[in-house]
Amino acid sequence: NNDLTVLGIESSCDDTAAAVLRGRQVLSSVVLGQTSLHANFGGVVPEIAARAHAEKLDGVVRQALDEAGSNTGDIDAIAVTAGPGLIGGVVSGVMLAKGLAAALDVPLFGVNHLAGHALTPRLTDAVGYPYLMLLVSGGHCQFLLVSGPDDFRRLGGTIDDAPGEAFDKVARLIGLPQPGGPSIEAAAKRGVAQRFALPRPLLDRDGCDMSFSGLKTATLRTRDKVIAEKGGLTEQDQADLSAGFQAAVADVLQEKCRRALVASGTVTALCVAGGVAANQTIRAALETVSDDNDIPFVAPPLALCTDNAAMIAYAAIEQMQNRAPDGMDLSARPRMPL
Ligand code: KG4
Ligand code: ZN
Repeated sequence: NNDLTVLGIESSCDDTAAAVLRGRQVLSSVVLGQTSLHANFGGVVPEIAARAHAEKLDGVVRQALDEAGSNTGDIDAIAVTAGPGLIGGVVSGVMLAKGLAAALDVPLFGVNHLAGHALTPRLTDAVGYPYLMLLVSGGHCQFLLVSGPDDFRRLGGTIDDAPGEAFDKVARLIGLPQPGGPSIEAAAKRGVAQRFALPRPLLDRDGCDMSFSGLKTATLRTRDKVIAEKGGLTEQDQADLSAGFQAAVADVLQEKCRRALVASGTVTALCVAGGVAANQTIRAALETVSDDNDIPFVAPPLALCTDNAAMIAYAAIEQMQNRAPDGMDLSARPRMPL
């Protein structure tokens, strides 16, 4: 399938995305974010997201075709995120994909969004099966043992918040700008992680499950104590809280990653994807684990690590070797197990 040209469409959360791939070659990848639309609401608003996807999808697809120098006649197949995600956006993507597949008379492949993330290291680094994937973003947090294009074993994940969500909430609580990940990372550079004792949730429990909501609450209580003592937070307090919180997240991910590798058996690589994987402290903590296990650490470039449509097209390219296309009855699924 190295010369198949596939159009990918992704609209399951707050990015409207389309991409054209020829085999492993990314001819174009357009991602239109909605951050500013949701900025005043402290989170993604499903109705606003759905309307924006419906409005923007056509243009984003056209732009992806233009940038690839393709016209619709070059497209051999259409891949679209069929779930999991916010139903409004997924429906818009699936409807557009069906329309295009019918009009162009090419096969249609519904792809699981998480499979897209999980297969990205094969697109960018040709990583061999099986490998361990840690998905850490604003919406996801799980360890997957990836043994084939449609063979994923979930080894564990968060039982409450995703780490990115926790970074965003903690940033808001201590007065740092959104998105919280980058601003906490920047503040933490000037902070002392040891000043505040913050918990490492679930480390006492066997297995690879994680929890970040208690850590967020503990950070809030610590903040309140400082405010009660001094009447407010200084920049140094913000930095120390940031450093302490970030260190706790890194410790939890590191230890659970160690356990996930034991549960995996022999793997070719430790891979990460998702916005939180941009964090240098977290990366360094995870690289210690891959070093100790003598396997490479693979982090795809951020543009392909966060939500995009190239990963959806690529997942279809791999999966179409072992599965039939979907029919016009392909449905959008807000919940969709891997
Ligand atoms: O993968 P992503 O772009 O979107 C989805 O969640 O699907 O991830 C965004 C999340 C946000 O919560 C953001 O705060 C977090 O990733 N993030 C970071 C960093 N950069 C982005 N978290 C920690 N450190 C960072 N440097
Ligand atoms: Zn995602």
